[in-house]
Amino acid sequence: MMWLKAWKQNKENSLDQIALERLPRHVAIIMDGNGRWAKKRGLPRSMGHRAGVEALRKIVKTCSNLGIKVLTVYAFSTENWSRPKDEVGVLMTLLTEYLRKELQELHHNNVVIRAIGGISALPSEAQKELENSIKRTQNNTGLILNIALNYGGRSEIIDAVKKISNEVLNQKQKIEDINEKCISDALFTKGLPDPDLMIRTSGEMRLSNFLLWQLAYTEIVVTEELWPDFGEKSLLNAIKAYQQRDRRFGGIHTD
Ligand code: IPE
Ligand code: IPE
Ligand code: MG
Repeated sequence: MMWLKAWKQNKENSLDQIALERLPRHVAIIMDGNGRWAKKRGLPRSMGHRAGVEALRKIVKTCSNLGIKVLTVYAFSTENWSRPKDEVGVLMTLLTEYLRKELQELHHNNVVIRAIGGISALPSEAQKELENSIKRTQNNTGLILNIALNYGGRSEIIDAVKKISNEVLNQKQKIEDINEKCISDALFTKGLPDPDLMIRTSGEMRLSNFLLWQLAYTEIVVTEELWPDFGEKSLLNAIKAYQQRDRRFGGIHTD
């Protein structure tokens, strides 16, 4: 299915109040609240995660239709390994399933699939599916869907420090030349703009080790909605809120 055509034909999309020329280039999302969503319904947590995948499908579509360049979603943190083995298993299976089922449509809609995090520690099935999806979509030119898996901001920074230290040891880098660009380039997100907007669902006001370096000047929107309830309207509302913010980057306005 071609998403954009169907979307443009749908008169119900209320894009008024959204300035399409001032969209965030990069949106990052902490998809939180699947467990609470399930609990509210007396369902097992796994059903919450399943519903969470449905929400993700819709949000990817909306971001692509809007013309957003990058969407980074936090799917599994380095700390999430501490959950019961069964739940970790469900999350990994859902990832594999999502890629297997959606690849065709994502590819057809010009989406580029990427991943950030310690991918080599994921179960081999998930890794295989991920590698295949990344390879298949690498030459696409549409939305970059960046999936954070076994991702932790601190461990990403540790890796970067090691990489740069080695370059210094091998005399490929001078200590006095280490700057922000050099650190950004040593992170998984190399080449991507920093997020303009970071959304966290389910009301939690913390970063939970997500994109610690990259979020330095990002606008944050926290919504009470649980991730499975987060839909197109919710995203548009978050973008509206973003567009009302005054991004000063430490400066002042002189006009
Ligand atoms: C987010 O939902 C999904 C992942 C962390 C993978 P949670 O599973 O954290 O849901 P809550 O926070 O327990 O409601
Ligand atoms: C953050 O959510 C990680 C993901 C959404 C993948 P958590 O539910 O793991 O975060 P905490 O434990 O509430 O900080
Ligand atoms: Mg949570």
